[in-house]
Amino acid sequence: MTGAVASPANDDDNDPGGVDDEVGTVMELEVGRIASGGGCVARAPDGRVVFVRHSLPGERVVASVTAVTRSFLRADAVQILEPSSDRVDPPCVHAGPGRCGGCDWQHVSLRAQRALKGTLVEEQLRRLAHIDRAVEVEEVAGAPGGLGWRTRVRFAVDPTGRVGLYRHRSHAVEPIERCPIASEAIGKLGVGSALWRGAHHLEVTASPDGGAPVVSVETGRNRLVARPPSGAGLVVNGRTRKRPSRVHFDVLGHRFEVSPGVFWQIHPGAATALSRCVLEGLAPQKGERAADLYSGAGLFTVPLARAVGASGSVVAVERSGRAATDAARNTEGLTQVEIVRAAVSPSTVEGRLGSPDVVVLDPAREGAGRAVMESLMALAPPPRRVAYVSCDPASFARDLKVALDAGWTLGSLRAFDLFPMTEHVELVGVLESPGAEGRPADQGFRG
Ligand SMILES: C[S@@+](CC[C@H](N)C(=O)[O-])C[C@H]1O[C@@H](n2cnc3c(N)ncnc32)[C@H](O)[C@@H]1O
Repeated sequence: MTGAVASPANDDDNDPGGVDDEVGTVMELEVGRIASGGGCVARAPDGRVVFVRHSLPGERVVASVTAVTRSFLRADAVQILEPSSDRVDPPCVHAGPGRCGGCDWQHVSLRAQRALKGTLVEEQLRRLAHIDRAVEVEEVAGAPGGLGWRTRVRFAVDPTGRVGLYRHRSHAVEPIERCPIASEAIGKLGVGSALWRGAHHLEVTASPDGGAPVVSVETGRNRLVARPPSGAGLVVNGRTRKRPSRVHFDVLGHRFEVSPGVFWQIHPGAATALSRCVLEGLAPQKGERAADLYSGAGLFTVPLARAVGASGSVVAVERSGRAATDAARNTEGLTQVEIVRAAVSPSTVEGRLGSPDVVVLDPAREGAGRAVMESLMALAPPPRRVAYVSCDPASFARDLKVALDAGWTLGSLRAFDLFPMTEHVELVGVLESPGAEGRPADQGFRG
């Protein structure tokens, strides 16, 4: 199937609500291209667009309608009449129509998953940034067979205290004893075999570098009635009940400590792969000024600080107080670092960064947005380079378009498979300012 079709990912506003008499209708479909949102595009017999989960391009399937909106249907492939050669048996017993919503592509070979992610990124770049760029998604070591990679899992807890994950687009909990994409250390804790009465959610974080995992529990106003696993720290509603309360991660020879609720990359190879990629892309030099926007616990602040040395400077901007506190601890002794606890906004960019030579931009899923991008592009003199780290190809492409319109160019663009079994992918794009070529620091660039 060809032609532009809206992605279902953010189209909830179209849900008429209550028009559900078609839910459960079964239809035979020829499945077309992949769409963002985890499904593929098909046409219902009456011509309406259908986004079909659990299918693959080129398949013929029987699909059961799961939702109806004004402009499209959602459906699950419940029977595969003609399978794709990329189809495999899901390694997880909880995967499949109506079951766990945590993974999108348990039924897809890893090679095909990466190819599909590349296609999705290419499409967003074409549609939103108006550029053609072939994207090859790189495997990152630490997830054999696409499993065992999650060093952090947020579990839901049902009213009886059973632990699980939400079903797709639902608040119903699929009880799960062991999630196969969770790391071995999380699996060994066995939080899914215990009852957690009174809890709403559990976030379990385990370092790939050893050390005790931490279980962070949210109960709201409930009292927690549970027997937490031994060998793990316990934090309840932000208060430490049992140490440790932080998990450590070793990246490029530096030990980071991260508190519950503070962002940290989940795949065990992610922090190192992204740090290397950002350093390679920016090629920061001794004595340069750097800015790390949306800096979290300081993952990029530390390697930037080391690269620019004591004669350089790094301004790290982060909105979350807890993350900024972790960043301050993680950068202790690096006197060239200033942690600014503030929202990234045009006024922070204009007032707090000075004139950075290089910038890292690693916003949350919604992206930095037009106003922040325009303020960055308008800095005078402009930074040599901006490394934009993104887990959302659509917001990345929208922000990239703002930079391209301001005369910047996209240098290297790398894509990493940091979320096997899901449709998600991590991008690092290096934006080059107008006239950046020929500046001394650009001579050694390896994009
Ligand atoms: C994707 S995380 C990246 C963190 C860090 N660079 C890393 O890789 O570990 C995004 C971070 O931006 C922070 N954040 C979100 N919105 C923000 C805003 N408007 N201003 C500043 N920080 C923000 C979040 O608290 C989070 O720490």
